[in-house]
Amino acid sequence: MAKSVLITEPIIPSVIEKLEKRYQVDVGEPGTYNDEQILADDIPAYDALLPMLSNPVTEKVIAAGSNLEIIANHAVGYNNIDLEAAQKHNVAVANTPDVLTDSCAEFTLGLMLAVSRRLFEAQKYLLEGKFNNWEPLGFLGKELNDSTLGVIGMGRIGTGVARRAKALGMDIIYHNRSKVDPDLEQELDAQYCSTVQELVKQSDIVTLHCPLTDETHHLINEEILSLMPEDTILINTSRGAVVDEEALAHALHNGSIGGAGLDVFENEPELHPKLKTAPNCIRTPHIASASFQTRKAIGMLAADAIIGILEGKPTSEIPNLIQP
Ligand code: GLV
Ligand code: GLV
Repeated sequence: MAKSVLITEPIIPSVIEKLEKRYQVDVGEPGTYNDEQILADDIPAYDALLPMLSNPVTEKVIAAGSNLEIIANHAVGYNNIDLEAAQKHNVAVANTPDVLTDSCAEFTLGLMLAVSRRLFEAQKYLLEGKFNNWEPLGFLGKELNDSTLGVIGMGRIGTGVARRAKALGMDIIYHNRSKVDPDLEQELDAQYCSTVQELVKQSDIVTLHCPLTDETHHLINEEILSLMPEDTILINTSRGAVVDEEALAHALHNGSIGGAGLDVFENEPELHPKLKTAPNCIRTPHIASASFQTRKAIGMLAADAIIGILEGKPTSEIPNLIQP
């Protein structure tokens, strides 16, 4: 009997077709498997799971998956998966590194430019019929050129953002668990800050690229926000819960920071009510990796890990396994 694969949402069709050539494949309806119980109820029928980052792949789900051999997340982040439970139940876990670095880095630059030059606010003004006279003092913003970018999390995406920002004339400082390779530091002319406090005091724009872990949960809190100069812009394309949203909303409403560009939220798809009304804030629905090329590459990488495991390939030959 062919092995079976559950893809929890419709993804790029050529990825689904690739898996269908080998396996019995089911594709869930959008949003259905955001419910832990539904996922736990359906999982026993499958040998492989290709979940979205919105699906809670908990101990309960993994324990119920008595045939499950692999969970291949459709994302680079994997905070939706209980890794310990996967290990305990002998289920391999894969993610999708590298392939979304460029799309996320480009999108992050897009948010930086849009917030600093007030693009959406300006469009709204135009569409509301308020552009009756060209004003020399209208919509003044901040130039990226000669500004300082503070990167928190200098991994693949943080580095991609820093490279692009440097090309726009920004100075780069960064905070990371450890200093990056000296060659990379030199290429970016990047200065290391040993604390987040030190970094935010010197940054015109702060951009977050760390994974969500116990250590980074609410890393950007009231104290850190209070250290930011009042025109600082905060960009978050990592995970919502890295920021204390209540504290951020308060800082935006008070004008104690300059603005924010947010692609991720703590309780997706819910938007914190005070962030909904916050000024100088651009909010997008977790789309930093949403280019055609990247979403296809994400799907293919996840599918390849599934094929590798289900065909019994040595785990050392499956490059995107987080744990075998
Ligand atoms: C997107 O947020 C991802 O982790 O791939
Ligand atoms: C993710 O790809 C990262 O390491 O930044």
